[in-house]
Amino acid sequence: MRPLVIAIDGPSGAGKGTVARVIAGELGYRHVDSGAMYRAVGWKALRDAVPLDDDAAVAALAEAAAIDVTGTQVTIDGIDVTRAIRTPDIDRAAAGVARLPRVRSVLVARQREMGADGGIVMEGRDIGTVVFPDADVKLYLDASPDERARRRANDPAHTGVPAAVADVATLLTQRDEIDRTRTASPLYAAGDAIVVDTTGKSVDQVVSEAMALIRRQF
Ligand code: C5P
Repeated sequence: MRPLVIAIDGPSGAGKGTVARVIAGELGYRHVDSGAMYRAVGWKALRDAVPLDDDAAVAALAEAAAIDVTGTQVTIDGIDVTRAIRTPDIDRAAAGVARLPRVRSVLVARQREMGADGGIVMEGRDIGTVVFPDADVKLYLDASPDERARRRANDPAHTGVPAAVADVATLLTQRDEIDRTRTASPLYAAGDAIVVDTTGKSVDQVVSEAMALIRRQF
């Protein structure tokens, strides 16, 4: 069977991470969370006090950084930032650096390298539109704002402890707005993506819908 490139996009809390991980596990593919790369760059920019709106400086910092994203760990320059990048400060820093076109080209080039031989499930905001416009399968996962906020609030990777849903909902809405309205690679579903509304659906349901679509490509 030919190793496919599977692109999964959508806003935060739509279920991309869980679904991408399970699908990659079933297919024996590599799972890459591209958002973790923007988070790691945001983390390093904050640490080094590089202004988050300075495209040239943040791009240089990203270019110089060794970023490694596996299914379970994120490191930048050998430092394990797996947990450190899941905080509200880094939510904001990542969304900030992700608006910068030069930073995006550094990370997009690395993402393309990772997918060059196929056998990859990559999740993000622009995977089906920019990173892999010729992906074999493009999914766009969405869910109602309430459900997305509930999921995010109860995700211990993000909050450490369950957070107030209303607070998370406000932050999610702000971040969605930045992601959807930015000039560089805004979040939208590719014309040839299959949009799956995950509201009220279990992970199993979404995974079986996705696997049915993927099997058609073999
Ligand atoms: O998915 P996650 O919330 O971890 O992504 C962090 C930030 O990185 C998002 O706010 C989004 O702006 C950005 N991002 C992006 N392109 C991607 C993945 C994430 O711009 N492919």
